[in-house]
Amino acid sequence: MIKISIIGTGYVGLVTGTCLAEIGHKVICQDNDKKKINILKNHEIPIFEPHLKKLVINNVKKGRLVFTDDPIFATRQSEIIFICVGTPPLKDGEADLSAVEKVSHLIAENSSSYKLIVEKSTVPVQTGMWIDKTINLYNKNNIEFDIASNPEFLREGSAVEDFLHPDRIVIGVQKKRAEKFLKKLYHPIIEQSFSYPIHKNCKYSEKIPFVVTDINSAELIKHASNSFLATKVSFINAISDICEKTGADVTKVAYGIGLDSRIGKKFLNAGIGFGGFCFPKDLQAFIRISEKLGYEFSLLKEVEKINENRIKVLINKIKDHLWIIKDKTIGILGLSFKPNTDDIRYAPSIKIINELKREGALIRAYDPKAINKVKEIIPDIIYCNNSYDVAKNSDALIVVTEWNEFKNLDILKIKSLMKRPLIFDGRNMWDKEKMINEGFEYIGIGR
Ligand code: UGA
Repeated sequence: MIKISIIGTGYVGLVTGTCLAEIGHKVICQDNDKKKINILKNHEIPIFEPHLKKLVINNVKKGRLVFTDDPIFATRQSEIIFICVGTPPLKDGEADLSAVEKVSHLIAENSSSYKLIVEKSTVPVQTGMWIDKTINLYNKNNIEFDIASNPEFLREGSAVEDFLHPDRIVIGVQKKRAEKFLKKLYHPIIEQSFSYPIHKNCKYSEKIPFVVTDINSAELIKHASNSFLATKVSFINAISDICEKTGADVTKVAYGIGLDSRIGKKFLNAGIGFGGFCFPKDLQAFIRISEKLGYEFSLLKEVEKINENRIKVLINKIKDHLWIIKDKTIGILGLSFKPNTDDIRYAPSIKIINELKREGALIRAYDPKAINKVKEIIPDIIYCNNSYDVAKNSDALIVVTEWNEFKNLDILKIKSLMKRPLIFDGRNMWDKEKMINEGFEYIGIGR
């Protein structure tokens, strides 16, 4: 059992802290936001993430997980400190590292014994070097420190599973001591020797690759991974535009190319583009860092441009079929940036709704989890209790997020409720042939 502190109990910090407690460590999760800490102390979870609430409650009960707003207490009580504070984008897209700097300073001044400081927030390459410098500058008590980078590869909606059963664990270290300590920390995950079966019928018998690099390489692995995945998404979206011009079907093209193991099937779903707080922000940050380092990453600029254009492509399709948008009732299915989360940051739904509102449409919208968050920024549309309510008197329906519950809707009931059975399937969620056979005007992406 290792004593760990998590500084910054946001999305990454909470999942990391909870899962490390689950594999047997003693974890303190700290956040300056007292309101959030009180919510957590009352066994409530400020975000929606499958499995997380159950794990938090279990580990709090077992005494392995506690929450505090006191960063000095968290620093003093732990051997390993994970920095999980936010790195939001500045106006020019560069990551704001002021919180990382503050935490490094605070740890250096308040430690009284050896600490391994692990950078987990998504940061530009060479941030580890800056943390190291800051620690040395403020290390008045001459405490021994090690610095490491341990990027996260958690997808919202399956973050617990991704943490406990990852494709790989990457650490960037300067010293063997830090490597050994982190290997010990992650031992139950590397060996898959803990007993929390998320998928009861699925066996995880394979060892998890533990990749050890220098700190700069680990930081780059994170940015390069997200950028590569975003590139795959923009690539297939560009292909989908060509498919529309030629009569090909992008779902078939994606299947055909994805079977090549060098390409892989994942992240080839064409649609209305990527959103969320990771891809758009990390892509921008990576472009800025590269610029600073003297490299113009025009490939990634194009990836960004293709993604930004996806909403325009959709709106043009809507205009092509509805002719006039003003006074038309348009239903929106899905508001979160992807299924199984209530996160609406950089969600395509927000841009689509604002654009349709600007054109004078009446909007009815439903999402299984994200309505309250969208209401805060767009109060003046109609929020419905379910998908059938959205369909009522709609001139068109747009699938914006492919939640599972939408896949199983009674589509004949949907059709009977709509004024005109016109569907824009922004995620190619439904079977095109079936929808057409059932009498819908079905407009997918690239098919
Ligand atoms: C992403 C990465 O997948 C994680 O590995 C990483 O740790 C995380 O960012 C992060 O940096 O914290 P996430 O943003 O939760 O995770 O979601 P993804 O599943 O990657 O999806 C991102 C966006 O791409 C979503 O809007 C999704 O709808 C879109 N997407 C994804 C597509 O349009 N097509 C696809 O084929 C796949």
